[in-house]
Amino acid sequence: MMKSEPQKRNALAVGNQIQIVFYRFFSGSACLSGDLRFLYLFALIVFASKTERSHFLLVSSVREAEAGELTPATTPGGPKATTPGGPKAKEEKIVVTVRLRPLNKKEQLAKEQLAWDCVDDHTIAFKPSPQERATQPTSFVFDKVFGPSSITEAVYEDGVKNVALSALMGINATIFAYGQTSSGKTYTMRGITEKAVNDIYQHILNSPERDFTIRISGLEIYNENVRDLLNSESGRNLKLLDDPEKGTVVEKLVEETASNDQHLRHLIGICEAQRQVGETALNDTSSRSHQIIRLTIESTLRENSDCVRSFVASLNLVDLAGSERASQTHADGARLREGCHINLSLMTLTTVIRKLSVGKRSGHIPYRDSKLTRILQHSLGGNARTAIICTLSPALSHFEQSRNTLYFATRAKGSN
Ligand SMILES: Nc1ncnc2c1ncn2[C@@H]1O[C@H](COP(=O)(O)OP(=O)(O)O)[C@@H](O)[C@H]1O
Ligand SMILES: [Mg+2]
Repeated sequence: MMKSEPQKRNALAVGNQIQIVFYRFFSGSACLSGDLRFLYLFALIVFASKTERSHFLLVSSVREAEAGELTPATTPGGPKATTPGGPKAKEEKIVVTVRLRPLNKKEQLAKEQLAWDCVDDHTIAFKPSPQERATQPTSFVFDKVFGPSSITEAVYEDGVKNVALSALMGINATIFAYGQTSSGKTYTMRGITEKAVNDIYQHILNSPERDFTIRISGLEIYNENVRDLLNSESGRNLKLLDDPEKGTVVEKLVEETASNDQHLRHLIGICEAQRQVGETALNDTSSRSHQIIRLTIESTLRENSDCVRSFVASLNLVDLAGSERASQTHADGARLREGCHINLSLMTLTTVIRKLSVGKRSGHIPYRDSKLTRILQHSLGGNARTAIICTLSPALSHFEQSRNTLYFATRAKGSN
């Protein structure tokens, strides 16, 4: 009969113990007389059996850990995900892409220099002179780099489409735009949302065997206060609640069911308009606030079949606050004491993403330290899929902020 790997390890260990006992007995008992020799042999056997017991404990804990890896990880919160074919907990790196926008009118009029070069589809490099380059890292490599002439369609197709559409298969997904104010986050996320909605409805058309329900909610987090973008009456500070089934939920957050793609686009339009109302009322709100549009996609197979019958998952489309808010946290004490300038959610997200990208070695992940990461907890890490689009201004005057964004992107990739 063939022995399994742990059985072989056990047999080897027992053999080793017997050899050790005999070696110790013959090498250590030469100077002992009759009774003392027996006593010595007895002590060696007792000692060996104790060591053996701890060895078996070790083997069984290894076995338990091996078995644990095969247990499907649940993806609670937001909706619980059911993955086709039964998921195996697998660490997936975060997809990180970079988009460099063209110089805007103002930058062109000011005759701004270009600071960055998209060397190829994966590499972006700092342009200035070799002397300046010597002191800095000059090129950065990502899953994909999109230059100033790239269209949003390409950013979607080559960068995030697979992540977005995994929500149709019951896997929670999150797409972020990260970058300094005016680098192109909102411009990019609008286009990505539009393309994702097109693809979702195309998939529905191509899947007549399934019934789909799409629900949408929209919220804004400003200064750690949560506001419903589909219900302006509900105030500016909605509470977060811990639901044993769903994880963190936003109390009283409106969730509308879209009757078709036109209706869904209309509801997304309401969320965007609401965010802009906030912008004029509270000066530069949009650069300090995070917007989450969450599409929850549920589908059921119409007829009995052997395959998984229903999927539910959410796709989170996140337009983050300007990343200059994150770097302010490295400013001097005076700035730190101002408090309201520090964006807790952005800071915590940066830590969470860094830890997720490192994988199992990272230890505790502080999801609960901010509203943004609490709300997104179950759509990040674990079985969920994440894509980050880092947007950059090409202008030399924005070099520092762009470089900070590239450092963030590098950490998100788990490269350092
Ligand atoms: N890739 C791009 N191509 C052309 N114009 C862009 C691009 N990205 C951003 N813009 C323009 O730059 C300006 C700032 O972009 P926006 O998305 O509002 O930045 P952010 O949301 O990061 O503050 C807008 O007028 C937008 O239309
Ligand atoms: Mg914006």
